[in-house]
Amino acid sequence: MIKDQDALEFLYDPMHYEQGAPVDALGSLREQAAIIWVEEHALPQWPGGRGFWLVLRHAECMQVLKNARLFSSQRGATQLRDPGSPEDLAYVQKMMLNMDPPEHTRLRRLLINAFNSKAITQLELQINHHARAIVDRVIGDATEGECDFVKDIAADMPLLCLADIFGLPQQDRYLMFDWANRVIGYQDPDYAVSAAFDQRQGSDMAREALALRPQPDSEGRMPDPRSRHGMNDLYRYAHLLAEHKRRDPGDDVVSTLLAQVDDVDGKVSVEEFENMFWLFAVAGNETLRNGIPGGMIALLQHPTAWQALQDDPALAPGVIEEMLRWWTPVMNFRRTATRDTEFAGESIKEGDKVVVSFLSANYDEQVYPHPTEFDIHREPNPHLSFGYGPHFCIGAQLAGAQMRAIFLELTRRFDSIEAIAPPRYLRSNFQRGVKSLPVRWRVRS
Ligand code: HEM
Repeated sequence: MIKDQDALEFLYDPMHYEQGAPVDALGSLREQAAIIWVEEHALPQWPGGRGFWLVLRHAECMQVLKNARLFSSQRGATQLRDPGSPEDLAYVQKMMLNMDPPEHTRLRRLLINAFNSKAITQLELQINHHARAIVDRVIGDATEGECDFVKDIAADMPLLCLADIFGLPQQDRYLMFDWANRVIGYQDPDYAVSAAFDQRQGSDMAREALALRPQPDSEGRMPDPRSRHGMNDLYRYAHLLAEHKRRDPGDDVVSTLLAQVDDVDGKVSVEEFENMFWLFAVAGNETLRNGIPGGMIALLQHPTAWQALQDDPALAPGVIEEMLRWWTPVMNFRRTATRDTEFAGESIKEGDKVVVSFLSANYDEQVYPHPTEFDIHREPNPHLSFGYGPHFCIGAQLAGAQMRAIFLELTRRFDSIEAIAPPRYLRSNFQRGVKSLPVRWRVRS
């Protein structure tokens, strides 16, 4: 038991993460134990709570993640921050991320059927096209220039890709940007009221949905986005989209998903689809908006890796895996113990919150020699950035394809990219986020 609990506040204080992720401090804790108890004190940016077990080592993280019966995603949902009320918990439990088998298994199977290999191949082709278009837009007809890597390069890639998955009008994609910001803005006020979407260019569906947009309170804060009324406009949009795709199916993943009728698994209901839409709009968006700049920071700090990728594009898969490990865009997920159990030498009680630290596991010296080094030839590299077990990320292949496409395009088109100011980090203990990364670039002759 670590006695000085005040010294552990950095683990959950969102403000602390604006200085960068606590990789070294996690290393010292991991040396002492596989799992530690952390009290949760009320802080200016944190409501406090009953406390949680933090799982620090790779092997124990995998054990928790694969044992859904003992460590439930449903009972207390999957966020470090407890749901604000029983109603809020009931609301998030409708998303597959926060379900246990058998409900989870059924929905996951339907979704995996929709992401069949034909759909993935088609999406990957579009991803390469998007990467070229993004870099073209940055370069224009200049030979050198400056930009914000996050806003000008990273942010659009996942939006374009999600628009393809949903088969929605491309101009509506900025709605997803604003929705994800609303969710993130709950911890970081810089993102709270985002208005990237231009109503004049949106579809009829977008205009109808936006009529239900929640309004900020007198201090400019939006209602809790993890409650239904905090995301009324997203739900309306998802509802209209489902109706549209059932009436007039395209060859996108969502049309396939909604058209499925299977004797075993039944059909996706409109309500289930609405909840999936929420999950995708945030999970498939924010993770990459942070993961792509995280990868760029790795290359900026390790110019030899940039050079190696430029010389040999075949290295890309290994480079991307190492970026995902080194940066770890999603730092943790939560489970709740379903019964009393002995685990890693500790007595865990039924109902205890158990938080798996991907960030710590990805630097575990037992698995990764010299973990702080960014080693593009690391083999094997069993990082946990996409989770493990029954909830393993459904978008992992697409996320990898987006990162490969963008970094191959960058190294192909640019001779060099260098930082011109330090990155600004997100105020979040969940997403390892980058708010801005100013860079100077020079095109390859
Ligand atoms: C670098 C990018 C990404 C990272 C780091 C990431 C990370 C994760 C992690 C750690 C989980 C497991 C959650 C748990 O165990 O409770 C997860 C689940 C999930 N991810 Fe991702 N993700 C990324 C991109 C995407 C994309 C692009 C999509 C969609 C296109 C997506 C959709 C999902 C969904 C639907 C789940 C829930 C799966 C389930 O509950 O069975 N993710 N992701």
